[in-house]
Amino acid sequence: MGYKTLCFAFSCIFFAYCVYLPFPENVEEPWKVRILDSLIRMTSLVATLFEYIGLMKYEDIFLTLSSLHLTKPVSDENITVIDTKFSDIPVCLYLPKKKPKIQKPAIIFIHGGAFVLGSCKAAAYDDLNRWTANKLDAVVVGIDYRLAPQYPFPAAFEDCVSVIKFFLQEKVLTKYRVDPTRICIMGDSSGGTLTATVTQLLQNDPKFKDRIKAQALIYPGLQSLDTSLPSHREYAHGPILSREMTIKLACLYVTEDKALPQAALRNEHMPEESRHLFKFVNWSDFLPEKYKKNHVYTEPVLGKLNASYPALVDSRLSPLIASDSQLQSLPLTYILTCEHDPLRDDGFIYITRLRNVGVQVTHDHIEEGIHGALSFTRGPVFLDLGLKVRDKYITWLEENL
Ligand SMILES: *[C@@H]1O[C@H](CO)[C@@H](O)[C@H](O)[C@H]1NC(C)=O
Ligand SMILES: *[C@@H]1O[C@H](CO)[C@@H](O)[C@H](O)[C@H]1NC(C)=O
Ligand SMILES: *[C@@H]1O[C@H](CO)[C@@H](O)[C@H](O)[C@H]1NC(C)=O
Repeated sequence: MGYKTLCFAFSCIFFAYCVYLPFPENVEEPWKVRILDSLIRMTSLVATLFEYIGLMKYEDIFLTLSSLHLTKPVSDENITVIDTKFSDIPVCLYLPKKKPKIQKPAIIFIHGGAFVLGSCKAAAYDDLNRWTANKLDAVVVGIDYRLAPQYPFPAAFEDCVSVIKFFLQEKVLTKYRVDPTRICIMGDSSGGTLTATVTQLLQNDPKFKDRIKAQALIYPGLQSLDTSLPSHREYAHGPILSREMTIKLACLYVTEDKALPQAALRNEHMPEESRHLFKFVNWSDFLPEKYKKNHVYTEPVLGKLNASYPALVDSRLSPLIASDSQLQSLPLTYILTCEHDPLRDDGFIYITRLRNVGVQVTHDHIEEGIHGALSFTRGPVFLDLGLKVRDKYITWLEENL
């Protein structure tokens, strides 16, 4: 009886979410996105409730759900799939079977999940990496970096750096028959953050300069200084990714102290000594006019948070606060942004800053797009948009790697 009542209550909430919540008009596949959005909202609601009554932590319910769809390394007629370790960090390798003697390009894949969730073994990512390896006849390396909050900043960053430095050794590239002049790093969402930060680090290290030919950032998050960009305001309630959920999850990469997300929600989380960094993320200077609309720039409120978190002023967390001189040597860059995404403007601002210092950037913006589409190419809801994102980025790689 209790169970049935609970199910009925959840069904009613779900139905109400689906039908009554305001929803942007021009989203691709609107009903599917509505259902997905309602499922995520319900999960967030239940997670908040469970955390409140002390049953489990907010992130744990998302973690449980996201680990339901993990794959085993299964080779097929075209691709050998291997689970191994590079420098003690788990990686998934996708090695094309055809023309084994010929050198191949390589793509290093860094998955998304707000630094807290996800794995390169997630079914949708496995599909993507397998498909990429086959389509481009390329070696793909997926990195299973350590996740927060168990392993906070900079663990994920350091794991990615270790794996890539290990892979770039001549003997390793030779072993997998990788052409050392055709290596790309790619990541979606927080994987895009990591891609941007790792590429900055390598490119500014004389030992690794110019070893990476290209970087591809798919709807990346690129800064945590200002949580009130026009896209944060317009898409505060999603679809898919809400501003609150993003802040709650991403703050766990810095600390489990709840004071940080609470301050970040008010955009009052940065310390006094960060004032000079805001010029790098000033949307009023860097956002294309069309997207500024009627938004008014608000000066940051600083020094409200008593605890200080060095990560907040670190370009290994916010690649957008790198200086122009650190940006100007970056390799060929691809950035894909989606309109219905609180992280939209991070991508826009990075594009402007990179182009201002002469970096060659290709930008695809999907007007009907939502955040996370690449992850929704496997049940419970399948979005064609995920394949559209994939095809856009692969077309660019085919022409540029
Ligand atoms: C193997 O590659 C061929 C040609 O690209 C493709 O048609 C086929 O579907 C691939 N097989 C699998 C299992 O992906
Ligand atoms: C941001 O840009 C606006 C307009 O250019 C300017 O008025 C404001 O002072 C800038 N703020 C910061 C913190 O850079
Ligand atoms: C910060 O510190 C001040 C002075 O020590 C104190 O009055 C205030 O309550 C503290 N604020 C928070 C959010 O802990």
